[in-house]
Amino acid sequence: MRTTTLTIRRPFDAHVHLRTGSTLRAVTPCTTARFGRAVIMPNTEPPIETVAQAALYKKEILSAVPSGQSFDPLMTLYLTKNLTPADIEKGATHDVCKIYGVKSYPFGATTNSQYGFRSILEAKDIVRTLEETGIPLLLHGEVHVNEQGEAEDPYDGERLFIADTLPRLLESYPKLKISLEHITTIEAIEFMEKNGESGKLVATVTPHHLLYDRRHAFSGGYRALLHCKPLVKRHEDRERLRDMMKKGFPFVYAGTDSAPHPESKKFSSCCAFGVFNAPAAVELYAHVFDDIGALNKLEDFLSVNGPRFFGLAPDIDTIKLEKKDWHITEPIVTDEGTRIFPIYHAIHGLGNEVMRWKIA
Ligand code: NCD
Ligand code: ZN
Repeated sequence: MRTTTLTIRRPFDAHVHLRTGSTLRAVTPCTTARFGRAVIMPNTEPPIETVAQAALYKKEILSAVPSGQSFDPLMTLYLTKNLTPADIEKGATHDVCKIYGVKSYPFGATTNSQYGFRSILEAKDIVRTLEETGIPLLLHGEVHVNEQGEAEDPYDGERLFIADTLPRLLESYPKLKISLEHITTIEAIEFMEKNGESGKLVATVTPHHLLYDRRHAFSGGYRALLHCKPLVKRHEDRERLRDMMKKGFPFVYAGTDSAPHPESKKFSSCCAFGVFNAPAAVELYAHVFDDIGALNKLEDFLSVNGPRFFGLAPDIDTIKLEKKDWHITEPIVTDEGTRIFPIYHAIHGLGNEVMRWKIA
């Protein structure tokens, strides 16, 4: 029988950018309408690099949650040169603002990554402290600049990280908990299928890397809404990623990497990296899992495996999805009048994209 409704535990987003100020006020409700908890990325301007800043940021997020909704933002710190082992230790036990992860961005690779180390292997004291405290290291796993100081081809960055940086990291810090964020390549998938381990080495997957390959990014001109890091890859990579979803690994789960940018920065001569998918993220995952015949794996991927890595139980609340066509026709508009276009938008997308699952 064809499945037409699905009830699953309330989803968990292991990777979201909510920004600050008017953007945060506009985009947070899109996330809280779909997810009960989310791991909040710290690459704000200025970056979140102390527990005190994370506590203030958490307050700002909570003040943007629509009344009547519950939402638990799980806070993280940005691995900058100012981050101290003492602050990480504080974050491990803090009862007001517990720290759930430290995020590493390779210098120059993506939006607001100018505060990061060139390579995670240079941040020895911090990584040692993470290993000791049990706080996960959240990795943007791309080599952007090599040891000779040269920029790498951005299509090769993840492959190089998997071939060299990640094995060295695992060898030097055997107890470190690692989440490899937004995996996109056959190399990353094969590495995870071989070495992934629940509670120890996990990976997140975005809706857009499951939906698109680089032919879409270049179809009829360059598609600004699809411009993100890691770049969308070849068709073979996308197929392999979809194939991985069918296997239902306990160490793989949803991290939307929803990353809003104002219209002026997306549709500009130097287009910002980031796909804004929060207005349809759960629906898009359902759409893909339906396409590949893996709807029976959706709840673990969206709602069970993520919390488990962070030592949390699945949500007790549920959401209901129904099979119903719809599409996004409007951008999100901030209270300052700035428009933010989501992926799958009927005009700025790749056609009149129709989603087949809707939250009831
Ligand atoms: C993210 C952003 O805009 O903050 N952009 C992106 O393309 N994914 C940063 C990141 O996670 O790389
Ligand atoms: Zn991100």
